[in-house]
Amino acid sequence: MAHIVAVHSMKGGVGKSSLSVNLADAAARAGKRTLLWDIDAQGGATFLLGADAGASKAKRIFSKTTAAATLVQPTAIAGLDLIAADLSLRQLDAALAEADKPKRLKKLLDDLAPAYDIVILDCPPGLGELSDQIFRAADLVVVPLVPAPLSIRTLEQVREHLAAYHKKPPALLPVFSMVDRRKTLHRQIVEAQPDWPAIPQASVVERMAVERKPLAAFAATSPAASAVGKVWVQVSAALS
Ligand SMILES: Nc1ncnc2c1ncn2[C@@H]1O[C@H](COP(=O)(O)OP(=O)(O)OP(=O)(O)O)[C@@H](O)[C@H]1O
Ligand SMILES: [Mg+2]
Repeated sequence: MAHIVAVHSMKGGVGKSSLSVNLADAAARAGKRTLLWDIDAQGGATFLLGADAGASKAKRIFSKTTAAATLVQPTAIAGLDLIAADLSLRQLDAALAEADKPKRLKKLLDDLAPAYDIVILDCPPGLGELSDQIFRAADLVVVPLVPAPLSIRTLEQVREHLAAYHKKPPALLPVFSMVDRRKTLHRQIVEAQPDWPAIPQASVVERMAVERKPLAAFAATSPAASAVGKVWVQVSAALS
């Protein structure tokens, strides 16, 4: 049965999709049967993997008539499958709240899980019904955050939310993202949390959107790729 890892943050633009793709690639390279489920209407992870949702409407997976597995597509990376996203997911949060099925996402993951060792969810920003469904299904939530007081605050808000509303909350792994060590505040905040992995601000990460490949496929020796490798080590340790 697969481990479920969500890459989630209340904040937008913090590196969730980039990290999802790089972690999924790392998992596949480690020999894990890996599924990346892009559950964000923006389709960032889908784009970064060079894929598209094609004719299939991503939201169909939430309808009872479509088997989840039929929306799975292979990727160029051995061992890595994808459920692609498109704009049909843009009102997913409201649709899930309306459907009043709090474990809908978990049930879909239960259907998909037997074929994989790990499922990685690239989540949209926010903290609504979809997030709650993700927290009910996930074993581990990876939270990318830029080293800034307001980001730390949103992490605390998520912790408070989990404590207040979830009986069995998943483990959280905060990961510093876009770290610029020339900035005093970045250095101070990162040094205050020596156990949290840190990914540097790096143009190679931005280049993923040009190459449409994970870092390891075109910049394997870069400091950012080695930082992602360390995140993967912590993710696997947290799951074992
Ligand atoms: N470590 C990094 N260094 C430099 N740029 C980065 C880094 N991580 C992500 N980026 C860039 O920042 C932008 C946002 O990244 P990404 O799409 O991964 O974030 P996101 O959290 O998924 O955003 P959204 O909330 O909109 O889904 C992209 O242009 C990406 O290339
Ligand atoms: Mg994203």
